[in-house]
Parts: sequence; C-alpha cells; structure tokens
Amino acid sequence: MLYSQPLFLPSPLVACGKKETPPAPAASPAPAAAPAPAPVKVYTVGTDAAYAPFEKMSAANEVEGLTVDLLKAAAAKGGFEVKFVNTPWEGIFKTLDSGERDIVASSVTITDERKQTMDFSKPYFDAVQLIAVKEDSKVAQFDDLKKLKVGVQTGTTGDEVVQKLLGKTSANIKRFESTPLALQELAAGGVSAVVADNGVVQHYIANNAGAKFKSVSDASFVPEQYGFAVKKGNAELLTKINAGIDAIKADGSYDTIMAKYFGAKPAMAAAPAAAAPASAASK
Ligand code: ARG
Repeated sequence: MLYSQPLFLPSPLVACGKKETPPAPAASPAPAAAPAPAPVKVYTVGTDAAYAPFEKMSAANEVEGLTVDLLKAAAAKGGFEVKFVNTPWEGIFKTLDSGERDIVASSVTITDERKQTMDFSKPYFDAVQLIAVKEDSKVAQFDDLKKLKVGVQTGTTGDEVVQKLLGKTSANIKRFESTPLALQELAAGGVSAVVADNGVVQHYIANNAGAKFKSVSDASFVPEQYGFAVKKGNAELLTKINAGIDAIKADGSYDTIMAKYFGAKPAMAAAPAAAAPASAASK
C-alpha cells in the first residue's frame, strides 16, 4: 500500500505542515462529536512566476498564467484548493521537503534525476529546448554554440543540455536567476545565445519584437514533459492532482485552457517547428 490509514484525522494545521503561515481560515475546526465532512484542503503552490506565458505576476501581483489556470481547474475537479506563492526557482524543490510548499507548479520538466527526490503528477504539457539568438546570428544548430557564450536559467533542463555541449564547468555558460534575465543579457550582447523551453522563448520573441531575436530549433533536443511536483511519498495529493488532470482532459477544459494561450492543441504548440504561437496576441 502506498498510504496507510491516517493516524491523525484532518487537523488542517498538522496536515499542511506549513511553518510560517497557518492555512486559510476556510476550514473551520470541526466539532469533535460528529464526523464532519472533511474540509477542503488548501495546498500551497510554489511557482517561479517569471516564465510567461506559463507563469507570471499579474498587475495585481498575483501569480497567473497557463499553469495557474490548469492547476486551479484540476484542483476544482480533484476536490482541493490551491494558493500560489511566487517562489525563486533556485531552491524551489527544497520547499517541498521543508513543507513550505505542497506543490511546485513551475513548468517543471519530469526527469529521472528529479524523480529521485520528488514525485510528479502525470505529464500535462510537452516541451522541448529552443535556442534564442539575435536575428543576424549565424547560429543554425545547437552545435554552433560550442565556442559561444550561452545564457541559461540556473538548474533548468536548458542548463543541463548546454552543459553537455560546453562541459559542466565551462566559463562560457552564463547562469541567470530567471529566463527573462538571460534573454535580456542576449539583447545586451553579454551572451550570444540562450537555451530555454520553447514556449517561453517563442513567447518572448513574439512579445519583444524590438529585441530582434529569432529562434533556432535542433533535432538533438529530446522531448520534455511538464509535471506538477510534490514531496516524495505524498501519494494522497498526487492522486488528487492526477484525478483532476484526467477530469479536465475528459471534459474539454484542458483544451480550452490551451487554446486560450496557444490557439492550438498542446501537441502543436509544443512542436519546435511551430510558428510563434503567441504572435497573434502580441499585436
Ligand atoms: N522546464 C525547465 C526545467 O524544468 C525550466 C522550468 C523553469 N520554470 C520556471 N518557472 N522558471 O528545468
């Protein structure tokens, strides 16, 4: 069995395992006598909200984007609630073990290495690495980056891929706290290319015409899939998330959310050769 009979029944304070803030007052303490219906649990979600169109901060300073729409919809079906907290990418996975966050929803690629230390939901989005360069760049394939300075977001799959080409300790790998910072450095000329997830690169190019970037895909990049990460062993939460994902795929709301951001089904939006999907919205 993956999970055993709960010894402690839903005291929300214990169940959420949070240190800094007690859970929202939504769940009123049940009177001890009658078995009250289990209160809807509110899970704290960590998100590096500098990753449009997947996750970004709204004008009202709230985390928004495809990831938020998707997880909220899945939560509604799975019988739980989510509260998003903007969380720096560096160290984001440690917040699962510490209990500061229950879920990391941050366009996280499911990798074998990460699976050692956390559990993932079913995949909910297909992605692949993509190279961003200036419009006049001679770079035509990944291999052309060998002698160049390349920007990546620290600890991402883009970082890993570039390490394989340039070497783990290469001084030509410039690491940034966020992907937008890496792309700004490309505009400033501090790096000659940035390697990051296709959706984010395409969105940036489509919405920053002034930067005069283009994207270069490469057949050597292996397909990636995003999943929601939870603390290793949290089968209870994973089951709810997966049920939610199944439900929004079955009732069409998953497709509706994808269409809101890409105007196409995810498989098409994720294809490296797809024309910049967000361009229509940018003008
Ligand atoms: N998919 C890549 C990875 O998992 C990058 C994710 C970065 N996400 C973010 N919100 N900054 O490594």
